Amino acid sequence: MTPGGANRKKQANVTTWVNLEVGNQGEGYSLSFPIFGDWSVGMRCSQRALELEASATLALAARVKALRAEGKDVLGFSAGEPDLPPPAAAIAAVRQAIDDGMNGYEPVPGTPEAREAIAAFHRKGGIDCTADDVVLTAGGKMALFLVLQALLQPGRGDEVVILTPAWVSYKPMIELCGGKVVEVPCTFEDGFRPDPEAVAAAMTPNTAAVMLNSPGNPTGVAFPDEIVERIAAVVAQHKDAMLISDEIYATLRYGDATHCSPASIPGMKDRVITLHGLSKIAAVTGWRLGWVVAPMLTERGEPLAKILTRIQGQSLSHTSSLVMPAVKAVLDGGADEDLESMRLRFASRAERMHERLAEIDGVKCLKPEGAFYCFPDVGDCFGKVTPTGKKLADVHAFCEALLEEALVAVVPGAPFGPGGERCVRMSFACGEETIDAGCERLASFVASLQESV
Ligand SMILES: Cc1ncc(COP(=O)(O)O)c(C=O)c1O
Repeated sequence: MTPGGANRKKQANVTTWVNLEVGNQGEGYSLSFPIFGDWSVGMRCSQRALELEASATLALAARVKALRAEGKDVLGFSAGEPDLPPPAAAIAAVRQAIDDGMNGYEPVPGTPEAREAIAAFHRKGGIDCTADDVVLTAGGKMALFLVLQALLQPGRGDEVVILTPAWVSYKPMIELCGGKVVEVPCTFEDGFRPDPEAVAAAMTPNTAAVMLNSPGNPTGVAFPDEIVERIAAVVAQHKDAMLISDEIYATLRYGDATHCSPASIPGMKDRVITLHGLSKIAAVTGWRLGWVVAPMLTERGEPLAKILTRIQGQSLSHTSSLVMPAVKAVLDGGADEDLESMRLRFASRAERMHERLAEIDGVKCLKPEGAFYCFPDVGDCFGKVTPTGKKLADVHAFCEALLEEALVAVVPGAPFGPGGERCVRMSFACGEETIDAGCERLASFVASLQESV
């Protein structure tokens, strides 16, 4: 059956042959198939998968790891996760879950105990909700993903308004779910506080949702209650738009910063979907514990939480059964002391990093009010030249040179969207010595820059 060499040459457009051995050794025969055209490019993928970018922050974290593996003494400020241990009560709860043999499937939206603990936690924050409104999921990321899957219809022109600089995953996730991103930039000069009138101007009949994240990643800014109330009032005027409030850092606030959950504003219960989780506030990023509070009905009169549960049931099923008991252990008061001591530690680091950065000529920095990020403006360094002759054309070049020449890893602000182009994100979820040494290296690096001739 295998055509001879001479025969093969005669076939036009044949780029390769595939040989298949059929039957048992000795008794079988071989088949050859001609392949026409260029198959060298590999398998076919969906356009949305091909266009999806890797997370800028995760990519940088991987680069820092690789440099350290080469023996380089890199000081890393890129991590978006606490360096402190989780509350003892959380660890004990997971240990107990293993001992109790919690190895099987649990209810898709989470155990009743976990959901009741979450509902009680949010009731204390002023949200009128019950355990039935809660869906426990695999981190804040999956919480947002479920909500976007429920809200956005690909091809309908659904838009989601985000306030930039914004967490790097909002835009790709909205686009992956079929929505269009509408950016409302905030500026360093305005303290990265959004202008409710700009939000109103960005909304159209296609607006499916407005995303709010306070305290915010990457800015560390906590929006004043009055701004949150005015944005809520803007959203309330659009019948089909929801407010999605990402409160993953809500209890990590410093100084006088307050927190207003927009779902707690009278009349907004049905219009605000709240996202939260233990990742950041309880230092358990790897456990994958997040949730949605959705106390509203959909257009067909069905609770949104039921729809989110169906989406999760057909995709993830649920987050790990073993971590579910940690929710109650952390939220029902048993971890309060540990959580408060972690918050105080971050508060003092926020002060420390801000003080060090404010001393550097050529760097401007707002005081962080929450989360664990400083977002200094380094734009005055752009256009200058490093001692090795590299010109700092923009924030990417700045971060690259800072990493290569001073071994300090910070995240460029541009990928967080408009408003972030002159800034870098520096996490203070690291030791005090690292903060001091890193800011010193940054100061020397900035001082070493020369005007370009
Ligand atoms: C603003 C914001 N929302 C949500 C998340 C997702 O958190 P999780 O690790 O729980 O998925 C992050 C993580 O960096 C974040 O910064």
